[in-house]
Amino acid sequence: MNIIIEPISEAHIAGFRACLDAVAREKKYLAQYEAPPLDRVAAFVRDGVAANVSQFVALDGAAVVGWCDVIPHWAHAVRHCGTLGMGVLAPYRGKGVGGRLLAACLSKAESSGITRVELEVRADNRSAIKLYERAGFRREAVKRKALLFDGAYFDAVQMSLVRD
Ligand SMILES: CC(C)(COP(=O)(O)OP(=O)(O)OC[C@H]1O[C@@H](n2cnc3c(N)ncnc32)[C@H](O)[C@@H]1OP(=O)(O)O)[C@@H](O)C(=O)NCCC(=O)NCCS
Repeated sequence: MNIIIEPISEAHIAGFRACLDAVAREKKYLAQYEAPPLDRVAAFVRDGVAANVSQFVALDGAAVVGWCDVIPHWAHAVRHCGTLGMGVLAPYRGKGVGGRLLAACLSKAESSGITRVELEVRADNRSAIKLYERAGFRREAVKRKALLFDGAYFDAVQMSLVRD
């Protein structure tokens, strides 16, 4: 399997949406149950590309099989902060794709001046938490019953990676 990691571009919009939609529909990992409509995803990607946001995709040929982004906060006192989101299609997990996406995305975010990366992860998502801890993230807090999937509540863990 030859998976390439590269910055997202206009050409990846439909593939990124399909990948996000597949992971969201698992209803286990993301707060959204499905991807937003294509026009909203397209605007999100175009805005990010225009602002040089750290947004990467993993490609198997032309197919988007994973993504990672760090979206900078806009308000003045939190412009050094960004929120991380990521996902990899189920058949591609556990093969190092997430680790490669995360490294690329964190490196660009840092070189863009982001010194605090934040995220929230479902408390029972052990492979994601392990991946984040290996990258240097630390647990900050537990949000009790923060997520609701089909009538079942789950805690969420807030984590951050802070650069000096
Ligand atoms: C979290 C996620 C992005 C990690 O991507 P990945 O490509 O599986 O990551 P890696 O392979 O680099 O590392 C995952 C770790 O879990 C282990 N793992 C083994 N089998 C696995 C499997 N079937 N699925 C996930 N992880 C597995 C890996 O071996 C690795 O640990 P190790 O390096 O100590 O062996 C991916 O599992 C995913 O998309 N999950 C669903 C969406 C999600 O949780 N997004 C994050 C929300 S905060």
